[in-house]
Amino acid sequence: MSNKKYVIGNWKALPNSQAEVDQILDFLSEHLPSGDTETSIVVCPPFVYLEEVSKILATTSLGTRVELGAQDIALSDEPSQTGEVTGEQLARLGVRYVIIGHSDRRWKLGESDEITNAKLRMALQHNLTPIVCIGERVREGNFGKDIIDQIDATFAGASSDQIQSCVIAYEPVWAISTNPGAKPDTPESAQQSIQIIRDHLKSDIRMLYGGSVNPKNAEAFLGLPNASGVLVGGASVRPEDFLQIIRAAM
Ligand code: PGA
Repeated sequence: MSNKKYVIGNWKALPNSQAEVDQILDFLSEHLPSGDTETSIVVCPPFVYLEEVSKILATTSLGTRVELGAQDIALSDEPSQTGEVTGEQLARLGVRYVIIGHSDRRWKLGESDEITNAKLRMALQHNLTPIVCIGERVREGNFGKDIIDQIDATFAGASSDQIQSCVIAYEPVWAISTNPGAKPDTPESAQQSIQIIRDHLKSDIRMLYGGSVNPKNAEAFLGLPNASGVLVGGASVRPEDFLQIIRAAM
């Protein structure tokens, strides 16, 4: 496992204006320490801001520190997909990563394993690095089997090289801050689940933890011996919080 750490911000459906996007990026631009190449920082804004963020990253020094990710990808490059954004369009915008199988999409928007798997293939086809979210809805009974079944369905048909090129974010659904009744996870239980995934895939794939990561717990989750970073939701649109999490990774 390389020493490189990843801090990836999933902005979800926030913020509500380009002015707020500018504030987040201006803040990062002013405060991000330069010269650290061991920490990859990625922001995944809603589609509506991707083009503007892409321009800002392409034309300012922030682009040397921060890479662009998308939160979703269309099932194919066919034009008859009202409301979707294709891999081709994302790649043209300079997007490098795409979140696949986020629990919001799996459980709130009804995305099946088949759809998630098709989106994974599209991301790979366009040379976008998939950030594949995996996580059990409840931690009881044989939750390890739920994790393994989800992995097998999500990666069905992918070669071991393709799997190796992905980033997996282990995100226990019950610990995600925006879910009703969310309970904090512990580094010990996160480590156990991440190990279940590693043992199953028999690979040193890049693995992140994501479940209410915030400035208080970031150091503990970033210190997990079998993971290389964090996928941050709510805290990634709070610039000071996101910066503190990034600093904890350095
Ligand atoms: P959270 O979200 O950090 O707000 O819990 C993580 C995610 O849903 O990716």
